[in-house]
Amino acid sequence: MKLAVAGTGYVGLVTAVCLAERGHDVTCVDIDEKKISLMKNGKSPIYEPELEDLMHKNSSRLHFTVDYSAAYKNAEVIFIGVGTPEQEDGTANLTYVRTVAKQIAESIENDCVVVVKSTVPLGTNDEVEKSIRENLSHKVIVHVASNPEFLSQGRAVEDTLHAKRIVIGVEDKKAEETLIKVYEPFELPIVITSRRSAEMIKYACNDFLALKISYINEIANLCEKVGANIDDVVRGMSYDPRIGNKFLHPGIGFGGSCFPKDTKALYFMAKNNYGIEMRTVKAAIDVNSTQRTRLFYDARQKYGSFDGKTIAVLGLTFKPNTDDLREAPSIDMVSLLLKDGAKINVYDPVGEENFKKIHKEDVQYFSTPEEAFKKASIVFVLTDWEQIKTADFSGKIVFDGRNCVNNFAVCEYYKSIGR
Ligand code: UGA
Repeated sequence: MKLAVAGTGYVGLVTAVCLAERGHDVTCVDIDEKKISLMKNGKSPIYEPELEDLMHKNSSRLHFTVDYSAAYKNAEVIFIGVGTPEQEDGTANLTYVRTVAKQIAESIENDCVVVVKSTVPLGTNDEVEKSIRENLSHKVIVHVASNPEFLSQGRAVEDTLHAKRIVIGVEDKKAEETLIKVYEPFELPIVITSRRSAEMIKYACNDFLALKISYINEIANLCEKVGANIDDVVRGMSYDPRIGNKFLHPGIGFGGSCFPKDTKALYFMAKNNYGIEMRTVKAAIDVNSTQRTRLFYDARQKYGSFDGKTIAVLGLTFKPNTDDLREAPSIDMVSLLLKDGAKINVYDPVGEENFKKIHKEDVQYFSTPEEAFKKASIVFVLTDWEQIKTADFSGKIVFDGRNCVNNFAVCEYYKSIGR
C-alpha cells in the first residue's frame, strides 16, 4: 500500500521503517531539512538498534521529503507520528498534530485514512477529523483512526515488528478495513475499539506501568529502613502471575519522553476537563519526583557537601540503548551537584553529544567509566549501560541508582536502592 508518515522521531521513523519492512511503500515527512537529507543518505537521526540496517534493506520502499503536499497527495493512509510535548501546565501540546492535520487537509486529492499514532488526550481524534474535514481543498472522503504506539525506546524495532498487539480505534468500517489491510503482513493480534477507547488504552497502559515503578520504588525505600532486600521481595512477588516480574526494577525513578509526560497529561486532563482527581496517577508522579534525586541527598548526608570534590556521573541517557536525554535523572543530578560546587566527570557511551547541548564547559567528558571515576571521590551510576555494569569499581565509593553494578563487593562503599 502507498503510505505516508508525518514526523521522523522515535515513533514516526520506526513505524515507517517497519511498515516498509512488511512490504509497504512509505514516504516519511519532516520539516527538518537536515534530518531529511541525513535519512536520504541512509543515516538515522536517532540511535535505535537495527533501525539503520532496516533503512538500508528497505531503501527502495522508503522515501524522505520535506514536501508534505507531494507525500500526502495520493497516499492511501497517512500516519501522524509527531511529538506531543508537555506544556508548562502539564497538559500535552497539540500544536504539531494540528499543523499536520491542516497540511493533510490542504494536500490530499484522493479519499484516505488518517491515523493518529502520537499519544494524544481523549477526544483529539475527533478534533483532527473535524479539522481535516473543514479544511479540505478537494472533494474527498477522509476517515480518522487512532492507532496508539507501544514501542519502547532502545528496542523500538523489535517492539514494532513483534508487538504484543495492535490497537485500532475506529468509528467506521472503511477505516477498520484499511488498517487491518495495513497490519495484515505483521501477523499480530489486533484489538478493534472505538477511537476514545484506543486513546484511553494508551494512557491507561503507560500510567499503569509508571505506577508500578513508583510503587516498587516506595517498597524499596521502605526495605532499606526495615532491613529487607528488594531483590528478594520482588522475586517473591513475581511468582504470582497476577503481579508478574516486569517493571518492578527499583531505581532512581522513571524518565524519558513518555511516562513523565503521560502521567501528567492524564492527571491534568481528568482534573481540568472533568473535575476528576486521579489519585493513583498523582501518587506515581509525586513518588517519582523525589526518587529522581534521592541518591544525591543520601550521598550528601553521608559524605557532606560536594564543594570542590570530583564526582563521577556514569550514564546520562534516561535508559540504556538510546541517546535520548529527555527527563533523564542525570540532568537533575548534575545540576544539583554543580550548584553544590562539585567538579563533574561524566561518561555515557552514546549520550555525550546530546548532553553537550546542555553542559558543554562545566562538566568533563570521558570515553570509559574507569577514566571518568579514576580521580573521583564519589561515583553515581545513573544508567544501566553494559559498559557501566561491568566496570571495575575497586576501592570506589559508589551510589548505584539502577541496582546494576555486577561486582559491587570490590567497592570501598556501595549503596543501591532497597538492598
Ligand atoms: C514507554 C513504554 O514502556 C512503552 O510501552 C510506550 O510505548 C512508550 O513509553 C511510549 O509511550 O512511547 P520508554 O519510555 O521508551 O517506553 O521506556 P521504558 O522502558 O518503559 O522505561 C521508562 C522509564 O522507566 C526509564 O527511565 C526506565 O529506567 C524506568 N524503569 C522501567 C524503571 O525504573 N523500572 C522498571 O522496572 C522499568
